Amino acid sequence: MVAAGLIAAAAAWAQDPVTEDRPKAAQTEGVAPGQSASPDQRAEALRTFLGLGARPDKEAAARGEPLFQQNCAFCHGPKARGATGPGLITADEVLGDDHGEHLVGFLKKGRPQKGMPGFATMTDEQLKDVAEFLHLQVEMVANRGAYHVLNIVVGDAARGKAYVAAHCAGCHSAETFAHIASRFRSPEQLQRGWIWPSRAQNPALAVTATVTTPEGARVAGRVMQVSDFQITVVDEAGQKHAVALERGAQVEMKDPLAAHEEMIKTLGNRDMHDVTAYLETLQ
Ligand code: HEC
Ligand code: HEC
Repeated sequence: MVAAGLIAAAAAWAQDPVTEDRPKAAQTEGVAPGQSASPDQRAEALRTFLGLGARPDKEAAARGEPLFQQNCAFCHGPKARGATGPGLITADEVLGDDHGEHLVGFLKKGRPQKGMPGFATMTDEQLKDVAEFLHLQVEMVANRGAYHVLNIVVGDAARGKAYVAAHCAGCHSAETFAHIASRFRSPEQLQRGWIWPSRAQNPALAVTATVTTPEGARVAGRVMQVSDFQITVVDEAGQKHAVALERGAQVEMKDPLAAHEEMIKTLGNRDMHDVTAYLETLQ
């Protein structure tokens, strides 16, 4: 089904450039071409086309989100797309799971020898909610990622230019965007790069912290790892410092991308394509 589905969907999207926030579903069995599908049928057809598993439970995912942000986001990124730890959107452990049957056991044990801690103190219910949050991220990425079957430069550059002037220029000078397209190998990478700027490629975007111990000693640097119990920072000289947090050290964290990530939450699909089309002209 995959190959035929891809072609059908590419054709459907080719005729229907993205003009709304959710992509139109491919026509599949059950919804004959020409017959008008309800939004639910279209959503279901899209799930089938994308080969997605069980539908994520949105309420469980909403409960799982803060748990993920507290316990996992530092290593895996706020949207599970990766940070110091791997991205989880394409992880076998996640894709091989439906509603936590597999992930709960994995998360309880972790892989401590590889840097993935176990979460034995979290309850099965909490871990199921975290699993659901991960499935929802997979689904959201799959929805957007689906566009790459087409040329992703489907937006309107003039509209993108106006959008950047109205929504990005408050935080960015023209310098951020000068020759931006030439810094990426393809429009896909440009789009990923402006939406999720890479901390790995730009050390200035790293999360940093200043930690003050109860005795008044202070260390500051790039955050390598943080949990409820301990924070590890690397100072300017490259020295690692691990500070226990249980005795009440004060931690002041700075995430240079926090404001940018807030902005991304308000970005619709059409705006996204328009901005990419505009930035693609800035060679
Ligand atoms: C201290 C950093 C750290 C924290 C915190 C952390 N992880 Fe991980 N995680 C890792 C690393 C590193 C790996 C890769 C381990 C390996 O190479 O096998 C990993 C692997 C995984 C995998 C398997 C990925 C695969 O490729 O199959 C999953 C799923 C996962 N983590 C989920 C979570 C969840 C959910 C949480 C929070 C409850 C969490 N992790 C917290 C560092 C972390
Ligand atoms: C509320 C403030 C804010 C808004 C609005 C915002 N950004 Fe950002 N963005 C930031 C911050 C802060 C950074 C990280 C520091 C930096 O590079 O300026 C960043 C980083 C970036 C980077 C990476 C720069 C680099 O050097 O790696 C790109 C590209 C970018 N933003 C594009 C955009 C685009 C396009 C828009 C509008 C659609 C936008 N931003 C809107 C705050 C914002």
